[in-house]
Amino acid sequence: MAEKREKSGAQRGAARSVSNGAARSASNGAARGVSKFGTLFKMLGLVKPLTAYMILAVIAGTFAYLAVQFIPILGGCAILDGLGLDTALAMKTIWILLPVLALVRAVLRFAEQRLNHYIAFRLLAIVRDRVFGALRRLSPAKLEGRDKGNLVSLITADVELLEVFYAHTISPICIAVIVEAVMCVYIGSYHAALGILALAAYLCVGVAVPLIVSGVSGDMGEKVRHHAAELSSCMLENIRGLDETIQYDYGRKRIEVTREKTKNLLWYQNTLNRLTGLNAAIANTFILFFDVMMVAAAGWLYLNGRVGFDGFLLPVLALLSSFGPVSALASLGTSLQNTVASGARVLAILEEEPQTEDVTGQPVVEFHGAECKKVTFAYGEGMAPVLQNFFLSINENKIIGIMGESGCGKSTLLKLLMRFWEVQKGKIGIVNTYVAGARSTAMVDINEVNTADLRDMESYMTQDTQMFKDTIANNIRIAKLDATQEEIEEACRKASLHDWILTLPNGYETNVGELGDTLSGGERQRIGLARAFLHDAPFMLLDEPTSNLDSLNEAVILRALREEAKGKTVLLVSHRKSTMRVADMEISM
Ligand SMILES: Nc1ncnc2c1ncn2[C@@H]1O[C@H](COP(=O)(O)OP(=O)(O)OP(=O)(O)O)[C@@H](O)[C@H]1O
Ligand SMILES: [Mg+2]
Repeated sequence: MAEKREKSGAQRGAARSVSNGAARSASNGAARGVSKFGTLFKMLGLVKPLTAYMILAVIAGTFAYLAVQFIPILGGCAILDGLGLDTALAMKTIWILLPVLALVRAVLRFAEQRLNHYIAFRLLAIVRDRVFGALRRLSPAKLEGRDKGNLVSLITADVELLEVFYAHTISPICIAVIVEAVMCVYIGSYHAALGILALAAYLCVGVAVPLIVSGVSGDMGEKVRHHAAELSSCMLENIRGLDETIQYDYGRKRIEVTREKTKNLLWYQNTLNRLTGLNAAIANTFILFFDVMMVAAAGWLYLNGRVGFDGFLLPVLALLSSFGPVSALASLGTSLQNTVASGARVLAILEEEPQTEDVTGQPVVEFHGAECKKVTFAYGEGMAPVLQNFFLSINENKIIGIMGESGCGKSTLLKLLMRFWEVQKGKIGIVNTYVAGARSTAMVDINEVNTADLRDMESYMTQDTQMFKDTIANNIRIAKLDATQEEIEEACRKASLHDWILTLPNGYETNVGELGDTLSGGERQRIGLARAFLHDAPFMLLDEPTSNLDSLNEAVILRALREEAKGKTVLLVSHRKSTMRVADMEISM
């Protein structure tokens, strides 16, 4: 029994746009809800499996910097030696140490960079794997209506940007802390005041400047990422909508929209770049300022006899040559903005809850029919229900035809039977048989059927068949990865596809263009059907399988369906009376 519902087209349109907006704002909200430090902390957590490499990179980087910083200090020692003053090192030792330090610097710096990039790209692989895992978990319900350009930008550009964090942020911070601590102790060994001055210089350039610039730039990084994603969406739309653009002479408007989005992105990128420049200028000004201060302080101490000439020369040389590690941090004020924004977007998708959790660990269920009992379902809170108190009995080995006006919820019903979404009220169940003394049947709630079993027992043909850029055979094989050529051909015969495929230049090995662009609507539909036949599940859910077909092809398919239904149950959604003739029972929604 099915209930008839009244709902206007406008209401439905509004409902869909609310849902899409909700999906987008959920992702933005997730990104915004996490603080910058929270995001950094979580991103850091991903490095755990590679901690040993990270420690090695820090050790190599620390010694590389120390080596380069002690070269001018050795030069200072040589001057002192030349002036006949006391130094801890003899001239001969200095001459030996200089090339050794240069070599050590080169080798260790190379090692540090190799290790950091190894870590970064291993992590990118891990992150990509997790992002794809998350998308699999979230699909299809949570990805329905999601901005695809935005997703593409997340999967590509955002993940890529994390390289900055993993290769150029974590170990440079550790290296800067260790190296500058050593330098403070070294400079402070001549006079404590000089050590404190050095510490102030490092804190100012490496901590205060990046923090202040990061504060000034606010959420600029997030905005750059957001506008980059917007532009990517717009370009995707331009490519997809090319036919319509030409047909309705809509090109000028699309160019305007694209230009506007490009301008927005450029403005934010320029502002961020200007801030990066300002950041470098401020950092360099402070470096110069502290160099002068060190000359003045050490000079004053020397003139007052508190330190010898070595206590003037060496601390000054040490400070002059030691800003490398903190300068690297100074630029993080803006570069990290972009990275944190990307990290937040990636983490938001990793942490997003799927619409339905996969069910595992339940007893195996055999399909012997299905039932909807008092099902009520809406796509979101506060939205009008698509199904209300809906009843349907799907008897085994029958073809059940479903008809109804556009938008009344036919495709929704199939998605609920696939458990892409969960019903809010009522129950959808699979009729299972079990043996308890005698053989009996019982209804098992679909929420208690293992997801993998459910996918095996159902073959679902959607209203529009998606194609992959591959051969026709492989496009059909996705329904059963180990299918033999004979099985594929058999499925194609049932879907009235075999003869047409044989006319193609490479038969089953012919490549279909991206998204199946080179195929007609009817050909695509029959490929969808061939997949459903090949999957060979006991329960077939077919959404408008014949809407694009001529009556000849329709007849072939209906005959095949009739044959199939002898051992299978078919739920057939169609607007066509001719298709409905094959049904054992017709339901009007
Ligand atoms: N993911 C979604 N989020 C929000 N609303 C949705 C979503 N999917 C479908 N809807 C809305 O739910 C209603 C039922 O959609 P459904 O696709 O089930 O209709 P249908 O009966 O299959 O229509 P048609 O015959 O045109 O294919 C429509 O108003 C549609 O706009
Ligand atoms: Mg539909």
